[in-house]
Amino acid sequence: MSTPKYINPEIHPATTKEDKQKCIDVRVKVCTDELKLPIEYQTQNADDAICDHWLATAEEKDGERVPVGTIRLLRLNERVGQLGRLAVLSDARGLQLGKKLVYAMLEGAKAHGFKEVYLEAQSDKRAFYEKFGWVVEEADKETFITAGVPHYKMWMRSIPQEKLI
Ligand SMILES: CC(C)(COP(=O)(O)OP(=O)(O)OC[C@H]1O[C@@H](n2cnc3c(N)ncnc32)[C@H](O)[C@@H]1OP(=O)(O)O)[C@@H](O)C(=O)NCCC(=O)NCCS
Repeated sequence: MSTPKYINPEIHPATTKEDKQKCIDVRVKVCTDELKLPIEYQTQNADDAICDHWLATAEEKDGERVPVGTIRLLRLNERVGQLGRLAVLSDARGLQLGKKLVYAMLEGAKAHGFKEVYLEAQSDKRAFYEKFGWVVEEADKETFITAGVPHYKMWMRSIPQEKLI
């Protein structure tokens, strides 16, 4: 059996300037280099300054801990937060990091007192978010285009109250 590239994954809130930059670096690798989305979405987004961010890291074989994933939470109003900029490096996928990042963000949403979490999912990620309970509502059943990619508006109208992570 081959050795996994990453071990001992961890997720923590990215509160320092250095960790926030690491979040952006992961987004650039995933969303710009891999998915070919415009780089301004990652590097010049004014909402970044008012979002909560989380950074996933993991150890490589040589023991060095490196950034492998990120997510952010934006306050839309006192009831509603928005999940955004979820990204896991391609060679770190399938390790439940995406799920743990979503759970960390949901715990953050509860801590802020949000009751609902909205997101805009790339259409091919709809099933990923449905696993957590987000739904495409009847009024939003058509996709819309952002950055040239079809997206669905999805809602979690009630956040699970049990501790997720
Ligand atoms: C989407 C993404 C974050 C998933 O990350 P990941 O770490 O591979 O996901 P996980 O290992 O935590 O998977 C959690 C569950 O979702 C499932 N899943 C993962 N990707 C999926 C997809 N594209 N569609 C449906 N289900 C998916 C997994 O099979 C797993 O299911 P399980 O809990 O039943 O075992 C990752 O593929 C990614 O960064 N993609 C590129 C960036 C992107 O598209 N971001 C989202 C924009 S809306």
